[in-house]
Amino acid sequence: MARITAGVTTSHVPALGATMDHGRTQEPYWKPVFDGYEFSKRWIASAKPDVVFLVYNDHASAFSLDIVPTFAIGVADEFHIADEGWGPRPVPVVKGHSKLSAHIAQSVIQDDFDLTICHRMEVDHGLTVPLSLLFGQAEAWPCRVIPFPVNVVLYPPPSGRRCYALGKAIRRAVESFDEDLNVQVWGTGGMSHQLQGPRAGLINTPWDQRFIDRLIDTPGELAQMPHIDYVREAGSEGIELVMWLIMRGALEDTVRTTHRFYHVPASNTAIGHLILENP
Ligand code: DHB
Ligand code: FE
Repeated sequence: MARITAGVTTSHVPALGATMDHGRTQEPYWKPVFDGYEFSKRWIASAKPDVVFLVYNDHASAFSLDIVPTFAIGVADEFHIADEGWGPRPVPVVKGHSKLSAHIAQSVIQDDFDLTICHRMEVDHGLTVPLSLLFGQAEAWPCRVIPFPVNVVLYPPPSGRRCYALGKAIRRAVESFDEDLNVQVWGTGGMSHQLQGPRAGLINTPWDQRFIDRLIDTPGELAQMPHIDYVREAGSEGIELVMWLIMRGALEDTVRTTHRFYHVPASNTAIGHLILENP
């Protein structure tokens, strides 16, 4: 059977993608950020996932702001890279896993979580930056990727509680797939940041650190936190953090913290990155 072995969280700041694409990761401003991913690159090279179920948010690239699904799943075998204004990032095409993604869609929808099914979809920095941070500048991505976009750009986003429960449904779905696959679930975006308005530039390190502690140790309690707390404490874009709860719901109640990294600032954002493994 397929099994979920680990969860990864990471911020997705687009400037990190541009920095990697332009060979500038060793510059003094950026080096401390990329140093935090050195361990992770070695770890994932030995963890060797067959499939990454990648929870992220689209930033008006695949979905215009006319139609934004709350939860969507990419069921295609291939996803092309979106042009976000400077041409598509020079990274490999993303290969999906249509059989597993169709199985997850069926299982999760029958489990009362309504997903939008995407047979063709471009993927933006929300998905490609996390892949680049973990896999570096690959010729081809070394595993299949199932893109799972969540609406955190237009009000109202899903609650943390619903995201956490959805993670559990995703775990049931993966574990009922009749093929021996090593699956990781990634929850991306965050941590504290606000890109607009009078509070632009907001960072809240104590709140971020406490969020990480609670995500690891008491996720069921953390999942009860209302939206307003995310926005007040972590800024308007801090709401991206609800996606981390999908990852956490897909893991066991008790997990091993293999790696924990936090850095401020990168562009306008507090970078948070975790590797959690099932015991
Ligand atoms: C930044 C962060 C984001 O999450 C994003 O989607 C765009 C920009 C930033 O910090 O610049
Ligand atoms: Fe973002």
